[in-house]
This record gives sequence, C-alpha cells and structure tokens, in this order.
Amino acid sequence: MNLIAPSLLSADPLHIGRDIAACEAAGADILHVDVMDGHFVPPITFGPGIVSALRRGTSLPLDCHLMVTNPDHHVEQFAAAGAAWISIHAEAAPHLHRSLQNIRAHGCRPGVVLNPLTPLDYAFEAAGEADFILLMSVNPGYGGQAFIPGFLRRCERLRTWLDSNGLGTIPIEVDGGVKLDNVRSIVDAGASILVSGSGLFSGNLADNIAQMRQLVG
Ligand code: DX5
Ligand code: ZN
Repeated sequence: MNLIAPSLLSADPLHIGRDIAACEAAGADILHVDVMDGHFVPPITFGPGIVSALRRGTSLPLDCHLMVTNPDHHVEQFAAAGAAWISIHAEAAPHLHRSLQNIRAHGCRPGVVLNPLTPLDYAFEAAGEADFILLMSVNPGYGGQAFIPGFLRRCERLRTWLDSNGLGTIPIEVDGGVKLDNVRSIVDAGASILVSGSGLFSGNLADNIAQMRQLVG
C-alpha cells in the first residue's frame, strides 16, 4: 500500500482547514506537517498549536517531520497536540536510540530522517527502533526544490538492505520534489510513503491527488 502524504507547507495558511478537508476528500492517506525551528533549517513554520488545530480538523494521521535542532525537547508537546508519527533528523539527534524510544513512549510512531548525503548506515543502525525511514530527496527547509536524482539509487539500496535483513515491513518515506512525473520511478525504487507539497498544491489539488493515486496504486 502506497501512502500519499500532502505536505501542508504548500497549503494556503489562510485556508488551511479548507485545504486539509480537500486532501481528505480526494483520498490522501496522511498529512505531512513540516516543523522548522529557524535553527536546524532557516525558516520557522508550524508549532504544536497548529498541530492541535489540525487534529481537530481531520481524521487523517498527522506525520510531523521535525526539522529542529533539539528534537527531544519538542516530542512531548507534539505528541500531546495529536501527532501520530514523529520523525527526527539523525543529524540533529546525537542520542538517536534514546530519542526514538522517547517518541514511542509518547504513543507516536518514530521515524528517522536522513539528509541527502547522510550515510545510509544511520538508517541501517536505527531501523530496529524506527517504524519508518524518511529519505530526503532535497535539502530540508523549503518547498518547491528540485528532486535530487541520486535519491533513486539510494532508495533502492536502503530498500534492498531492509528486505534482506528481515525488515521488509519498514516503509521508506520520500520527501522533496515528488511530482506526478517522477512518483512512479520513486515507488519503483522502493519508497511507499510519498510526501508532495508543490507537486500536489500547484494547480487542482483534488485532481493531482487522484492522478497520483492512479500512478502509484
Ligand atoms: C522540505 C520539506 C518538505 C516540503 C516538500 O524541507 O520537508 O516536506 O514541503 O515540498 P515539495 O514537495 O514542494 O518539494
Ligand atoms: Zn517534510
């Protein structure tokens, strides 16, 4: 089962309730919420308050991608706000094992995120503690960037490693530059959670989600 995860970074902040309802009606599976702290990455985006409001506005699981310097400090608040999945960057979590366990202890599904050139070894080591691995296909911080082509080979390597090490049920999430014209190749490379911001919100959101569903099943 491939999951379509619209990234709310590309939603209209003034009409975010309308946009999440449209995502849900069009058949999105989860909603991707980019949390940026102005430190790990330059922009500042969503905090727990908006996550709590989103929680009241949809029944879809909220997938909170923490692009923050000190993820441990924020997990409790995002869990209380209603996050279902919380992913943290390996580059920001020196005590990654403990940090993933902490997410699970707060009732959320833990995920590990790797920047485009962070060694896959982090995913290999962390896979036993994570419910999903998020591979960035752009450098984090901004929507609308170009997909980094080397992602496909990297995703294949991770998928092969997981499958041959008894971890075939762990999904790979892809984030950055995912569009209708490349999503099929991304799924073929082994990713099954497809985050897309500008690729879905540019033009007609419902049509784009329906087309992506057709492409990925
Ligand atoms: C980037 C964010 C992404 C972003 C993707 O740092 O993590 O989730 O919203 O946007 P697109 O799909 O436009 O590349
Ligand atoms: Zn993201």
